[in-house]
Amino acid sequence: MAETEERKYYELSEIRDRAPKLFGVPTGTKLDEMFWKIEFEGDKPVRKPLGGLPHLSIINLTGIPDSGKSLLAEQFTLHQASEGYKVLFVTVESPANFLYTSLKAKAEYLGLDFDKISRNIIVIDASENAELREDPRALMDTMAYAIREKRTNNVVIDSITGLYEHKEMMARQIVRQFFNFLKKWRQTSLFVSQKRSAQGAETAEAAGGLAVAHIVDGSIVMDKRLIESKWDMSTYKLPIGSVLRTIRIDGCRLTGHDTRTWVFEISEGGTIEIISPLEEFIKRKEVM
Ligand SMILES: Nc1ncnc2c1ncn2[C@@H]1O[C@H](COP(=O)(O)OP(=O)(O)OP(=O)(O)O)[C@@H](O)[C@H]1O
Ligand SMILES: [Mg+2]
Repeated sequence: MAETEERKYYELSEIRDRAPKLFGVPTGTKLDEMFWKIEFEGDKPVRKPLGGLPHLSIINLTGIPDSGKSLLAEQFTLHQASEGYKVLFVTVESPANFLYTSLKAKAEYLGLDFDKISRNIIVIDASENAELREDPRALMDTMAYAIREKRTNNVVIDSITGLYEHKEMMARQIVRQFFNFLKKWRQTSLFVSQKRSAQGAETAEAAGGLAVAHIVDGSIVMDKRLIESKWDMSTYKLPIGSVLRTIRIDGCRLTGHDTRTWVFEISEGGTIEIISPLEEFIKRKEVM
């Protein structure tokens, strides 16, 4: 092989030094215990909580409108920033000044030091800039600059769906570009992706969702169900007209994870509180 030619194959052992170490990047929610790894105690394999999203993973956070995706993305951002890590937040839906208000209110509710935190959060506002929204190259150039100059560790894009509005044929290609870009820059990332109510709420599928799910390292599906029938009322033991919110890790290539559907609540401060697996939630209610 000519020395100038780029190498296209490797012996597995040559990759050892480049292989990422598996550990968790905390979200500040119970999700942190829902990813796990196997460690050996003697020769016995034991499951240990990873303590967060897998480091350097790119996770698709999907769900119907108002299911809590942005809340969770913001909570992850605040938690990371409060721990001294830098987060690049690409806001595609909500203008940056609204994002500011929302992050500030949540930080106060969580008792975090917003002055310190706000220095660790870098914002790119694509919501009011058509070029950034419609030209992936332009957005990636801006992101690369921010990642390099500010030395960020994490990236949130809320939402990736907003980057291929009106061109869903291009969805896979665009998601793939951002995926490769963030892998190259070694950023642990969350892609928020929206799905329409009609697209099977409990799955990661959707026109956009489907494109995202196959490319990323894992998916988290958030859902909400309106209690609207006698069946719902007796199954979930919730009053008619109330809302049951659920969250589930739909798959992850990098680590083992909990596969159950969990019930969560949105606190009055707009934070996510994961309560218990749905199966336990239903049982507990029956006992009461
Ligand atoms: N501060 C708050 N206090 C209580 N509830 C809130 C607060 N902020 C948001 N919510 C509730 O959380 C819901 C979910 O909000 P969120 O913005 O995370 O939805 P989303 O999944 O990002 O939706 P979309 O796809 O439309 O962006 C809101 O509709 C609202 O009912
Ligand atoms: Mg949102």
